[in-house]
Amino acid sequence: MTYAAARLGAVKASASATISAEAKRMAAEGQDVIDLGLGEPDFDTPAHIVEAAHLAAASGDTRYPPTGGTAALKAAVQAKFKADNGLTFAANEIIVSNGAKQVIFNAFMATLEVGDEVIFAAPCFDSYGNIISLLGGSAKRVVCGPDTGFRLTPEPLEAAITPKTRWLLLNAPSNPSGAMYDKAQMKALGAVLARHPRVLIMSDEIYEKIIFDGAAFTAFAAACPDLMDRILTVNGVSKAYAMTGWRIGYGAGPAPLIAAMVTVQSQICSGACSVAQAAATAALTGPQDNIEVFRAAFERRRNLVVKAVADIPGLSLDAPGGAFYALIGCAPLIDGERFKDDAAFVEYLLSETRIASVPGSVYGTPGFFRISTATDEYTLTEAMRRIGDAVRALT
Ligand SMILES: Cc1ncc(COP(=O)(O)O)c(C=O)c1O
Repeated sequence: MTYAAARLGAVKASASATISAEAKRMAAEGQDVIDLGLGEPDFDTPAHIVEAAHLAAASGDTRYPPTGGTAALKAAVQAKFKADNGLTFAANEIIVSNGAKQVIFNAFMATLEVGDEVIFAAPCFDSYGNIISLLGGSAKRVVCGPDTGFRLTPEPLEAAITPKTRWLLLNAPSNPSGAMYDKAQMKALGAVLARHPRVLIMSDEIYEKIIFDGAAFTAFAAACPDLMDRILTVNGVSKAYAMTGWRIGYGAGPAPLIAAMVTVQSQICSGACSVAQAAATAALTGPQDNIEVFRAAFERRRNLVVKAVADIPGLSLDAPGGAFYALIGCAPLIDGERFKDDAAFVEYLLSETRIASVPGSVYGTPGFFRISTATDEYTLTEAMRRIGDAVRALT
């Protein structure tokens, strides 16, 4: 008996979730596993946010919310864009969904015809390609290596655009590389896009608040205001406020695009959980001090990992500019004998050192593996010690 429709053929379950499930299984057996697979902050959601959810539930905010988001949360999102990014959106230019992931899904569902191409830079979040394939689109990865700091640059972008290109999808700071773009780099991409008026631009800015070395964040829409009528900015509370389980993300863009996304959302889920929206409203409007506490912790961990990798022969890592991952080069170890590919190396790390990580090939960059730095410094230090010992044991 076949259950799955043909369109599921090209779709894979999330690799990091699969690896984390295996790590949990090993831990349940009593093995001392360190799970560096999943990308979620290890902090608790700040208490005032949880309290706002309590209050919302207790005061009867328990009915179907407006499909595109509650008025309170949309107002909070408008204020956030104005204050943080200098961007002004009307309420009908904003959608609230179950996580940034659903914003992305809604947008592609609403706009892609079968065979339409979506260009994005690899390495990238593994859901992008899967969502696009599920919806009949064609995922067009442009591999961007360490030579450009894993950034997309104008020439390969220009070369990748065809008459079938519908979207360019950008993500900075990037999962998994941490790559960021400065204003000039964004403007250079914008100049290419200006020549291709049919191409929409999705800028996934979910890691906006996790940036290092004193860098300032610029939203793509702020860097390229001339393209405003084609940009969908995607963001959410998952990463910045340690709220991955609450499932609230938001998007801002042209009203007709947002309206089409709300239509999609109305048939998928009727909107995002009312109580979680109240929590997200408190996150965006309440005290922001936790953001800096989380950010500073992620920067210390990033530094710890960069330093540890520098002492391990065969591994390499340029300091990521943001997010909470390290995409570590391991190509010199993939010699076809010891390991046939990065997946084999990751399996070795799991079986020999009980460190769960994700192969770079999942993100479109073989010869690397990703660890999440969203774990405490003590555990991370132990994890890097184990990885170092395991790699040294190979020589
Ligand atoms: C680049 C990127 N975009 C979006 C998401 C999904 O975020 P959310 O939890 O808001 O759905 C993730 C989660 O890992 C991510 O890494």
